[in-house]
Amino acid sequence: MSKRTKISEILRNEATGYEVTVKGWVRTFRNNQFIALNDGSTNNNIQIVVDFENTPEATLKRITTGAAIGISGTVIASQGKGQKVEVKAKTLEIIGDSDPEKYPLQPKKHSLEFLREIAHLRFRTNTFGAVFRIRHSLAFAIHQFFNDRGFVYLHTPIITASDAEGAGEMFRVTTLDLNNIPRTETGEIDVKQDFFGKTTNLTVSGQLEGELAAMAFGEVYTFGPTFRAENSNTTRHLAEFWMIEPEMAFYDLDDNMDLAEALMKYVIGYTLTHNKEDIDFLTQRLLEEEKLKPQTERSEMNLLEKLQFCLGNNFERVTYTQAIDILRESNHNKKKKFQYLIDKWGADLQSEHERYLVEKHFKKPVILSDYPKEIKAFYMRQNDDGTTVRAMDILFPGIGEMVGGSQREERLDKLETRMKEMHIPTEELSWYLDTRRFGTCPHAGFGLGFERLVLFVTGMTNIRDVIPFPRTPKNAEF
Ligand code: 4AD
Ligand code: MG
Repeated sequence: MSKRTKISEILRNEATGYEVTVKGWVRTFRNNQFIALNDGSTNNNIQIVVDFENTPEATLKRITTGAAIGISGTVIASQGKGQKVEVKAKTLEIIGDSDPEKYPLQPKKHSLEFLREIAHLRFRTNTFGAVFRIRHSLAFAIHQFFNDRGFVYLHTPIITASDAEGAGEMFRVTTLDLNNIPRTETGEIDVKQDFFGKTTNLTVSGQLEGELAAMAFGEVYTFGPTFRAENSNTTRHLAEFWMIEPEMAFYDLDDNMDLAEALMKYVIGYTLTHNKEDIDFLTQRLLEEEKLKPQTERSEMNLLEKLQFCLGNNFERVTYTQAIDILRESNHNKKKKFQYLIDKWGADLQSEHERYLVEKHFKKPVILSDYPKEIKAFYMRQNDDGTTVRAMDILFPGIGEMVGGSQREERLDKLETRMKEMHIPTEELSWYLDTRRFGTCPHAGFGLGFERLVLFVTGMTNIRDVIPFPRTPKNAEF
């Protein structure tokens, strides 16, 4: 029993009268005869019909929920409802037992909170099967999209000495003995004795290194883990998340928006064709969940419709200044329904404002641009008005900020001045400034939060449920 056929393939073919070997994990076993077997290739189980009269009692007892088994037999037309074909077992092997008294996953509905506690087993549920197959497809589609357009996939470092966002939300990387920290004569930590001989941290973004490579390859992208030590215990934040960061020479902000919108539509479209079954399953799951809510709180569109809507409509493009006017004049603001009221230009937008714009006002994804320079990073290109920068954020319904990016400041003097104003050390980033010294050119890029994308496509509501093993404040299990 070495070569096995995937259950998805047998169910898709619908052919009968041939021999197969299938291996997987038992979901249910009823009447000592029918096994629902799952191998992770699809949420649909294959029904195995066991010849119970000729199978030892001891073996039958070991066919329990969660056990790994292998079966060889014939694919036949199914007499029962619910499936077209099933496998009539000739040989049955118990590969790994699962004690039904102790196995935490029973064939019933478990809460997402409970499943989060047993994240090592939750892959075996229908919901997480669908979520993580879609996550895989999205990752694959992203590479496909960039590869088709001739982008170079760049591996930027995980350990770095720079703070790309200048926000100071970094995890320190050190091999110093924390019980006996070496100090300089003036009492500071003697980082020269540390592994790298300087202060290092886990990267918050691969952008700065991405810019260096874009100045040679023209179009590059990174796709890797990033780390933020921000103490945000929300359903949208992780301490470790994956980010896609394209960086393109000779692009302005409009080109950047066009690329981001095309990317989003491509990858969503990809999953609609390649993960139809899983999206249908999650759409159904959400509908069931929404039934528990009062009518007024239910979504106007189901998950599938939401994804299709996103493909069929242009993202709304508005400036920060226009958005502030909309928010300030909104009834929501006047009736003081925002926790943070919008009264003047310059305020940072909270997620409640972002969600108001996309969910209540425009009812579609929105690209906001030209933010006040005070609330954005040092590297963004300054507008002639002296107050705004060529930033863009893409906001999605139910999610808020999905993408953050900008056209970069390519003019050396302007960049240096801004860095000094913001107390960003220019000497430490001299390698970054070199791109502006030697053959500088207009360029732009953005960062797409991968888990937020998976959230949107799967319709899940908590970011902890779309990454296998979430890292959040006070939690690094598994
Ligand atoms: O807006 P951010 O901080 O932008 C950057 O890091 C830029 N260097 C990107 C670039 O221009 N190359 O982060 C980009 C995206 C956000 O829009 C959000 O989707 C996601 O990364 N993100 C997070 N996702 C999960 N948990 C967190 N703590 C996140 N912080 C940002
Ligand atoms: Mg941002």
